[in-house]
Amino acid sequence: MLENIKELKKQIENIAKTIDSEIKAEEFKLEYLVKKGKIQKLFDDLKSVVPADKPIVGKVLNELRKFAEQVYADVSEKYKKSKSDIALIDLTLPGRSTWTGTYHPVMQNIDEFVEIFKSMGFTVAESADIEDDFHNFDALNFAKDHPARDMQDTFFVEHERNDLLLRTHTSPVQIRLMQSQTPPIRSIMPGRVYRNEAISARSLAEFHQIEGLYIDKNVTFAELKATMISFAKRMYGTDSKFRFRPSYFPFTEPSAEVDITCYLCGGSGCRVCKHSGWLEIAGCGMVHPNVLKAGGIEPDEYTGYAFGFGIERVTMLTTGIDDIRLLYDNDIRVLQQF
Ligand code: PHE
Repeated sequence: MLENIKELKKQIENIAKTIDSEIKAEEFKLEYLVKKGKIQKLFDDLKSVVPADKPIVGKVLNELRKFAEQVYADVSEKYKKSKSDIALIDLTLPGRSTWTGTYHPVMQNIDEFVEIFKSMGFTVAESADIEDDFHNFDALNFAKDHPARDMQDTFFVEHERNDLLLRTHTSPVQIRLMQSQTPPIRSIMPGRVYRNEAISARSLAEFHQIEGLYIDKNVTFAELKATMISFAKRMYGTDSKFRFRPSYFPFTEPSAEVDITCYLCGGSGCRVCKHSGWLEIAGCGMVHPNVLKAGGIEPDEYTGYAFGFGIERVTMLTTGIDDIRLLYDNDIRVLQQF
């Protein structure tokens, strides 16, 4: 009997070394520690041991059981740890797809503008947000004391050069194109512009414009009008109506503003369109001869048209947002809708 106990202890010692998983630990328990296990079997055999030997055999057998229980306790402890790790990963849950952002609605509109104008033969040009007085004002026919300068409250840049500013419109890019290219020039120029303006539901101090410029021989106002209308019909649909209102810009002559029927009331008049039924979406006109000259282009030889859209106004139309500030509050609940 003592031999059998010794033998079993050896077995257990050897097996203990090979237990390396939850399954093997449970197999060990089933083989040695349950009621029908090998150790209990030896306890059953104790009956046949002569009474005199019973205490000593019983003692050794008890030690064996303790030893086996300890082995099991150790391995199941290990197993428990890995069980708690496993519990964190529920493989039956549906997978989580990675979240990616989308383009801001203003950027989506800029892309749409670019696509439509590209298909009409326009290229895309850009230049810096910091401009000098010459490109932003002088070259665009703003006289030094021209009241139009007041129309565009300007942020000046503190610098040893005292003529630097944050461009108040994208029109200076027109001058940079004229200076660097020879006609025909047909480009659109998207970009960010800055004005020292009170922020309200309809205006921001920092916003986007898309400038357009076409210079060639015999460019006419009729072409400008046709281009603006065919663009706007593609952007807003064929049902929308447009009107050209005479206007004034120092850099175009004649000048006009383009209105579209209000998206909210469809033209009957509401808060968004200030009860006029119309929303202004762009300024445009024939490039002033002085501007062509400032850009190094001969006004007797070439004519051109220019236009400028305010993008955020357009985005208000395409999104139905009636407070321009919502576009830059970075509220994900707003932006996710577009
Ligand atoms: N630059 C003008 C503005 O900011 C818009 C404009 C561009 C008008 C080109 C006419 C021609 O209001």
